[in-house]
Amino acid sequence: MAQRVRKAVLPVAGLGTRFLPATKVIPKEMIPVIDKPVVQYAIEEARAAGIEEFIFVSAMGKEAIAYQFQPQAQLEHLLSEKGKTAELKLIRDINLPAGKLHTVIQGDPLGLGHAVWCAKEIVGNEPFAVMLPDDMVLSDVPCLKQLIDAHAKVGGHVVAVEDVPRDQTNRYGVLDVTSEEGRLAKAKGLIEKPAPEKAPSTLAIIGRYILDPIVFEELDKQTRGAGNEIQLTDALSRTIGRVPFHGYRFEGKRYDCGTRVGFVEANVAFGLAHPEMGPRLRPLLEKLLKN
Ligand code: UTP
Repeated sequence: MAQRVRKAVLPVAGLGTRFLPATKVIPKEMIPVIDKPVVQYAIEEARAAGIEEFIFVSAMGKEAIAYQFQPQAQLEHLLSEKGKTAELKLIRDINLPAGKLHTVIQGDPLGLGHAVWCAKEIVGNEPFAVMLPDDMVLSDVPCLKQLIDAHAKVGGHVVAVEDVPRDQTNRYGVLDVTSEEGRLAKAKGLIEKPAPEKAPSTLAIIGRYILDPIVFEELDKQTRGAGNEIQLTDALSRTIGRVPFHGYRFEGKRYDCGTRVGFVEANVAFGLAHPEMGPRLRPLLEKLLKN
């Protein structure tokens, strides 16, 4: 039985250039999908998966992300005085316990591998989750919980994967698979952003990972990869053979909120899945499509 996963690292230091001008002032993670900022979905998923400690790898100007999960005494007092109990509950429920929310600043956006490395001291020597809030997953069982359950059985690194169209492999880390059993794909290698003709499979990593701390030994070397960035996938691939490496075909549907179309798609999908809004939204969308 593998060691329990208690900590999640959320790299949010990226510049969000694909979402300008929306992200000129507002961090892209704070843009709402339906009625909650994108990052809140990731935190709620992590809590539902049993994560107890949260580490934002952030950047100057993106302080609002951590404030979303801290008590706002003045606002809480005001809502309480006005008897707005439902609203008070909404903002209180998302407060993380004192001492369980950490922010480290990634001075320069040197890549996802570098962002994860910045959390090394707070993670310590135990398995941990990495969540990229841009990837939102609609599923019956929270995606991160699915990974944690799989990790409890196989240990090592377990990353969420899905089949992508072959002409899109150059946007992802892609697995070189040796064998598959149920939802688990055992991998012997991993390539970052391979050209479609060079991709060893179409099984691509999405933004949910459970990692063995051995990855920090490789990240310590600060080796640059594709785009001259310190790539997480490169560091992971160099640890294969030392710890097990599995892709997990999660149950659910992923939406890539880092792109404009993906963001609109996520709003529609999460809107339709919303218990109050869904039934009101569906006829509106059907009417729009008819015209
Ligand atoms: P992206 O590739 O989406 O980059 O990063 P980005 O900068 O956020 O967005 P664009 O491409 O400019 O529009 C994937 C994830 O890794 C984090 C981002 O915040 C995002 O969650 N990241 C990336 C960092 O934290 N630091 C980095 O140096 C790079």
